Amino acid sequence: MCRFKAAFARPQPPHLMATMLIFVLNGPNLNLLGKREPEVYGKASLGDLKQLVETKAKALGLAIDFRQSNHEGVFIDWIHEAREKAAGLILNPGAYTHTSIAIHDALKALTCPTIEVHLSNIHAREAFRRHSYVSPAATGVICGLGAHGYLAALDALRGLLDKRPKD
Ligand code: DQA
Repeated sequence: MCRFKAAFARPQPPHLMATMLIFVLNGPNLNLLGKREPEVYGKASLGDLKQLVETKAKALGLAIDFRQSNHEGVFIDWIHEAREKAAGLILNPGAYTHTSIAIHDALKALTCPTIEVHLSNIHAREAFRRHSYVSPAATGVICGLGAHGYLAALDALRGLLDKRPKD
């Protein structure tokens, strides 16, 4: 493309970019992974999880923006940011899964594929964890596989993105 055309070209939609960017958003208390209830959430830290996700993403030709926040509003701002920048979203909203209509609404405004992930099997735990406000707004849901759930979500996104129309 000539320089003039390049300067005025519309930015590429995220799912057509050479290396597609996947947002991986982690909600409250996940900064304590490895220390908090390791019998439920495992011994790996959030840093370990990030490394596993980045390694897998690289093998799949995907770029990762991996974040964690304890604040609902920050989480919602990141989902809005994903609208502009991300080709796909993996999110573990922690306890907000079971309470946040605002996160549900933010996800409804997204067009990219979205996978909800939980380390633990939320259906085999307390009754209040069995309801998710996120699931009806997600493309798919993975729970109970520990860190592997994030890697399975990446595989799923790669497959979904490969099937998207190229124009
Ligand atoms: C969680 C499950 C939630 O119920 C809980 O509040 C979390 C973690 C999981 O990954 O298993 O913080 O999302």
